[in-house]
Amino acid sequence: MAATPLFLILLLFNFPPGSHTQTQNATASPRPQLTEATIDTIQLAFKHSTLTSKQLVQFYIDRIHEHNHLLRAVIEVNPDALSLAEMADRERRARVPGSGAGLHGIPVLLKDNIATKDKLNTTAGSFALLGSSVPRDAGVAKKLRAAGAVILGKASLSEWSNFRSSSAPNGFCGRTGTGKNPYVLSADPCGSSSGPGISVAANLVTVAIGSETDGSILCPSSANSVVGIKPTVGLTSRAGVIPISPRQDSIGPMCRTVADAVYVLDAIAGFDPNDDPATRAAARYIPRGGGYKQFLKPDGLREKRLGVVRNPFFQFGGDEVVAAVFKNHLQTLRKEGAVLVDPVEISNITEILSSSYEMDALLAEFKPALNSYLKHLVSSKVRTLADVIAFNNKFPKLEKTREYGQDILETSQRLNETNRKAVREALFKLKQFSENGIEKVMKEQKLDALVAGSSSFSVVLAIGGFPGMSVPAGYDGGGVPLGIFFGGLMGSEPKLIEIGYGFEQATKVRKPPSFKP
Ligand SMILES: *[C@@H]1O[C@H](CO)[C@@H](O)[C@H](O)[C@H]1NC(C)=O
Ligand SMILES: *[C@@H]1O[C@H](CO)[C@@H](O)[C@H](O)[C@H]1NC(C)=O
Ligand SMILES: *[C@@H]1O[C@H](CO)[C@@H](O)[C@H](O)[C@H]1NC(C)=O
Ligand SMILES: *[C@@H]1O[C@H](CO)[C@@H](O)[C@H](O)[C@H]1NC(C)=O
Repeated sequence: MAATPLFLILLLFNFPPGSHTQTQNATASPRPQLTEATIDTIQLAFKHSTLTSKQLVQFYIDRIHEHNHLLRAVIEVNPDALSLAEMADRERRARVPGSGAGLHGIPVLLKDNIATKDKLNTTAGSFALLGSSVPRDAGVAKKLRAAGAVILGKASLSEWSNFRSSSAPNGFCGRTGTGKNPYVLSADPCGSSSGPGISVAANLVTVAIGSETDGSILCPSSANSVVGIKPTVGLTSRAGVIPISPRQDSIGPMCRTVADAVYVLDAIAGFDPNDDPATRAAARYIPRGGGYKQFLKPDGLREKRLGVVRNPFFQFGGDEVVAAVFKNHLQTLRKEGAVLVDPVEISNITEILSSSYEMDALLAEFKPALNSYLKHLVSSKVRTLADVIAFNNKFPKLEKTREYGQDILETSQRLNETNRKAVREALFKLKQFSENGIEKVMKEQKLDALVAGSSSFSVVLAIGGFPGMSVPAGYDGGGVPLGIFFGGLMGSEPKLIEIGYGFEQATKVRKPPSFKP
């Protein structure tokens, strides 16, 4: 255990040698460009036999081998990925129902807090959970397999979904070190779903799954120039996902295009008996026929009423390049037929952003939620939050315990009866913030969505379980990606998809990263 760096390097480089044969169909169009490939182009190539799922998986394994030592975005590659891809290829050739469309044969990376019952570990980035055995696939992993997706591996994250240490950098976890922004290596990749964002941006995979409690999909999506959807809480199952808060946690897609993200959402949304009643309650928002993909309308912005939350989400600290990017985008939204209500005010926004109510509630919710996850593991070195804290203290080198500490874990562990009253008060305040804030302004101004130019907007959505979306919006003067954010009321994914897709089709600003130092 003491030889961490060597162990880690072996883990990261010990991929199957794999063949590089690319048997192309000589009579058809050549294999499509695989960097920036979308699900639609990949499915078309599968159909025309110019590409196999196995070739696609091998392409990504080679890319991971080439770039992951720098980016630290992938924790583990699935040793069975190539054989899963071969199986998908066989099913497609045999025209098995469900093959040849959607996610069938498409490689996906899962944030490392999402359990899979296979050779992959599920560790939230921590050595404390390495070698633990999960009882079953997470609800979303099960749905991905049912759709025919190939689980390529686990993506890195801010350890424990950024609920460990308030001083560790975004994207740091014990098992990989700190993830890097592929656009500007010295820039913040944001977190906690850093690995999914980096991997998708750098074409280490087709699509990825992240999770969000407050900002953990939206922020790394914007920082890595990918599309992120944070669904209404309960629309996607949290069962088998290492938790922070059942009240706020949500699992969602991180992809290079809105269409890819929507195909993934269609595959993972829905009821899961292991996350009942939350998924039962939210299932009523799912469109009856045609799935979410029916909302991929090029004219999706037409007649949408968008509330522009200028205070404080369009204040760019005097950065004129960024201000100009967003000024331009607001014009584009108008040009595409949206009605901008500009500005709108969210009541108590300063308090929502600065009060400790959300953290008080999360700290209280984390301990029982994590202890329940750990208790249900088939085997594990750690069975409680207290065990995790003790592990980090026992192996300070592995977990960089001296450098970064574990103050959040410790604070959550310390909470006792005395704090219960404060937590009830905090939960009441959060509910009031939503009622007097986003819900009131959306209803009064008859809005379809709110629009923001800063990822700190995520808190407005997080505290009430509301959905949000981040779409690539450009790059700042230094080449660091920017995202634009749309958010709405419970179950408003159809509107957010129309708006996000309309914006993407009108702008198309995403470009692949250049690994600038
Ligand atoms: C090659 O591609 C063409 C057209 O895309 C298709 O009709 C044909 O079946 C393919 N051949 C093989 C051997 O897959
Ligand atoms: C999971 O962790 C164990 C160490 O406990 C390791 O031997 C194994 O290779 C890991 N699995 C993968 C797929 O890396
Ligand atoms: C409960 O926690 C408070 C600090 O939040 C501490 O002062 C108090 O001693 C604790 N009570 C018990 C019974 O542990
Ligand atoms: C928020 O603002 C409204 C006024 O819009 C006010 O009535 C309310 O008390 C404030 N506080 C909270 C916690 O919502």
